[in-house]
Amino acid sequence: MTVMTAATKGAGAAPAGPPPMAGTRRLAHLPGEWGPPVIGNTFQDLRDPRGYTRRMYDRHGPVYRHRLFFKPQVALIGPQANEWFLLDRERVLSSAGGWMPFLAGLFDRGLMLLDFDEHRLHRRIMGQAFKAPAMRRYCMRMDAAIPTAIAAWGRTGSFRFYDAIKRLSLDLATEIFLGLPPGPESARINRALTDMVQAAMALIRRDLPGTRFGRGRAGRRFMERFLFPRIERRRAEGARGDDTLSLLVRAEDEEGRRLSDRQIVDHLIFLWMAAHDTITSSTTTLVYELVRHFDWQERLRAEVMGLGLERLDHENLGRLMLVEAAFKEALRLNAPVPGLPRLTLRDTSFAGHEIPAGTLVGISPTFVHRMKEIWDAPERFDPLRFTDAGGAKTRHRFAWVPFGGGAHMCLGLHFAYMQAKLLMFHLLREWRLEPIRHPYETRFQIMPLTRPRDGLPIRMRRL
Ligand code: HEM
Repeated sequence: MTVMTAATKGAGAAPAGPPPMAGTRRLAHLPGEWGPPVIGNTFQDLRDPRGYTRRMYDRHGPVYRHRLFFKPQVALIGPQANEWFLLDRERVLSSAGGWMPFLAGLFDRGLMLLDFDEHRLHRRIMGQAFKAPAMRRYCMRMDAAIPTAIAAWGRTGSFRFYDAIKRLSLDLATEIFLGLPPGPESARINRALTDMVQAAMALIRRDLPGTRFGRGRAGRRFMERFLFPRIERRRAEGARGDDTLSLLVRAEDEEGRRLSDRQIVDHLIFLWMAAHDTITSSTTTLVYELVRHFDWQERLRAEVMGLGLERLDHENLGRLMLVEAAFKEALRLNAPVPGLPRLTLRDTSFAGHEIPAGTLVGISPTFVHRMKEIWDAPERFDPLRFTDAGGAKTRHRFAWVPFGGGAHMCLGLHFAYMQAKLLMFHLLREWRLEPIRHPYETRFQIMPLTRPRDGLPIRMRRL
């Protein structure tokens, strides 16, 4: 058995270091604007990311330079840009280089922060924890846990759906990834992960107590202290379980290469974050739309009831086609991950624009998903867009990219569909979901991940 380490050479080795960052002078030939010195347009973007992108796109076109978070960068806007960026046919875009400015010190060496051969190797090994047999077992666990949580929500009167689903998603992730039932650790893990995600947006990135970044670093240390001994124990016991951790401890590629303890810790911390915050965000948007569109709530309920099942197993997930379309529409309206970054490793060009090596480039699912140039009535909730009759097959295939695409396409997207469908199945079979006031509208905070500012207060009434 070969244990891969960060220093292992060969297929898993990282490429040479990134090129120096391109400064404002090397990007000056591109359309765009730098905004005020140093800070650039950061506050405009943070305040209203879609409105800001619309202004920049209308003024400068689909490729423009600007400065955000102290860094000169280039925005690539539209489905063609998404395709060029995500497929990266020239292998010139580094995901690690793109994400590191935000995630360094917090989610280092998670799968999304690896590139090319090393990334492919790790992804192949990790993929074993998301194959059909594993997914079937995850499905059973979720199906058993979700009704209990929902029954508890039903007893509380009104509650903030965002907080409730975040806790449930975290508990499910902890149980499925580690085989641990919800316990006293859950709350601490939740805080650690939330602090780490919030720290990703910190403008001052020093590990100082009391600062946003310092809290994120403390969260990372907690997660490592929590995980290392558990991995050791799992190895000693032969890792016979069917939780993700056991699968990762056992997983190997065709040449018998396995992940080291450190690599498993890095991947698990990333997975945990990737899984629970994104599902929380997307199911919250879906419920937000269903409490505002009772007609759709009833249509989904009819589909769920039509299955004639008490429990939902992996084999029947595919039958919830309208639920899936509604979930896709929620992901369109509020992409949980609003923007994706990369770093150019060599000089390249897109749409006739020269982009030098060392440029931070980014796409914006959150904006492209609501472009009036692509979508009819983009602000309207209309799940039928994701059916053949609604034009799903005629649209540019990179117009809708909530899970990214290409080599770094979300590894957990089936996991996400599965959890969303199980949740809807159990909610809609027994409960009517209502807002606490009519008409109800809320504002969403978009960065770092999309969430309703008021936490989405709702009430559940038994049918
Ligand atoms: C609705 C839920 C989710 C959304 C919207 C989402 C979104 C994304 C996006 C946009 C990326 C690509 C980032 C990039 O290319 O820069 C990504 C990657 C990833 N996601 Fe998800 N995700 C979701 C759920 C999950 C779940 C449930 C898991 C795990 C169980 C997960 C694990 C991952 C991993 C490991 C990667 C990195 C893949 C790679 O780099 O090869 N995600 N996700």
